[in-house]
This record gives sequence, C-alpha cells and structure tokens, in this order.
Amino acid sequence: MSDHYAKLTFTPAVQAEQVRHGSRSAYANRGTRESEPDVFDADATAFIQARDSFYMASVSETGWPYVQHRGGPVGFLKVLSPTTMGFADFRGNRQYISAGNLKQDDRVSLILVDYPSRARLKIMGHARVTDDPEILTSLSMPDYKAKVEQAFLIDLAALEWNCPQHITPRFTNAEIQQAVAPLHMRIAELEAELARRG
Ligand SMILES: Cc1cc2nc3c(=O)[nH]c(=O)nc-3n(C[C@H](O)[C@H](O)[C@H](O)COP(=O)(O)O)c2cc1C
Repeated sequence: MSDHYAKLTFTPAVQAEQVRHGSRSAYANRGTRESEPDVFDADATAFIQARDSFYMASVSETGWPYVQHRGGPVGFLKVLSPTTMGFADFRGNRQYISAGNLKQDDRVSLILVDYPSRARLKIMGHARVTDDPEILTSLSMPDYKAKVEQAFLIDLAALEWNCPQHITPRFTNAEIQQAVAPLHMRIAELEAELARRG
C-alpha cells in the first residue's frame, strides 16, 4: 500500500476502527514515513489507458459524496505526465454535478476495474475542469460520436492497487467476440466438412 494513500485515508476515526477490529498493528507504519510521491508508472499507465469506464467520486459543497460513472472508448482516459491524468467530458445530461463540486472542493477519488483480469486501481487526486483548446485536442477521441464540452485534469495525490477479491469476471461484447472467434471458425470448418460428406 502506498504511504500517500494511507496518509489520506487512515484518519483518526479510521485508525480507531482498525484498533477496535485488531488490524491496526498490521498498518501501523503506513502513512507515517516520508516517501517519494506516487506516480503513474508503466503498469498503472497501461492499466488506466486500457479502460473504457471508471467511477469518480467528488465532494459536494454540502459535504455529500457524489459518485458518477464515466465511460468512453478505450483510451479516453489518458495519462499526460507521471502525475497527471485527464479525460474528455462528453456532453451528457447537462447536470454538471462533478464540475460544480470541483469549484468548492477539488478532491476526487476514482476506481478503475479490469473485470476479466479482476484487477482494480484506486486513485485519489485534485481535479479541475478546463476548456483549454490544446488540452481538449489532446483528450478528444475523433472517432467517438460524442461532443467534448470540456476536460477534466487530475493531479495525482495517491494510488493504490486493490486485491482481486469479490470481483466477478465480466466481459465486454468485443472481448466475448474475440474469445468465441476460434469456436465460430471451428464450427464453420465442421459444417463444411459435413456438407462435403453429404
Ligand atoms: C441524454 C443523456 C441522458 C443521461 N441521463 C443520465 C441520468 O439520468 N443519470 C445519470 O447518472 N447519468 C445520465 N447520463 C450520463 C451523464 O450525463 C454523464 O455520466 C455525465 O458525465 C454526468 O456528469 P455529472 O454527474 O458530473 O453531472 C446521461 C447522458 C445522456 C447523453
């Protein structure tokens, strides 16, 4: 576990729960040491850029947590530097809840899941919305039929890989098509063979 992740999440109340449940000693050193900032390394970058969706939580000005699903074509979530990621805000229901929340509190938490591999990555960061044309261009997906209204940029505060427990493998249509392609080919071969035999 990243020390930065522990620093942000192991609040006094959380630590008290860990004591109550007997797990505090396992985490005692976490979040107390000085360590290099978390970065998007090669594994995290590849994982992030292979996603077609994720969930992002922000904090409303009344303190309510708010979570939204974000989706797009694979690659719409981009790592722009070792500590910055971004994605295009495609026109949707025009409620702008996440964007509004960021005006008061720029903290966000993201969870990204690779269901077939049963891997998940949690990211905490500081987010902002921009309509800088250069950034919009770098985050746009020209082949995707959606209007890019603005973009979200997230400066990394901490990241954490989760264990695979309780993730049910799920597959997209494209992944299923790829997996069954050899079966379709084999069926076609066998049907041709049957037809030849009359
Ligand atoms: C026509 C249309 C209707 C939508 N309706 C909903 C909806 O009812 N609820 C929802 O959570 N998202 C809906 N979405 C998706 C959201 O607009 C999208 O996830 C957007 O990013 C939400 O941003 P926000 O939650 O920060 O406001 C809709 C999208 C479109 C294109």
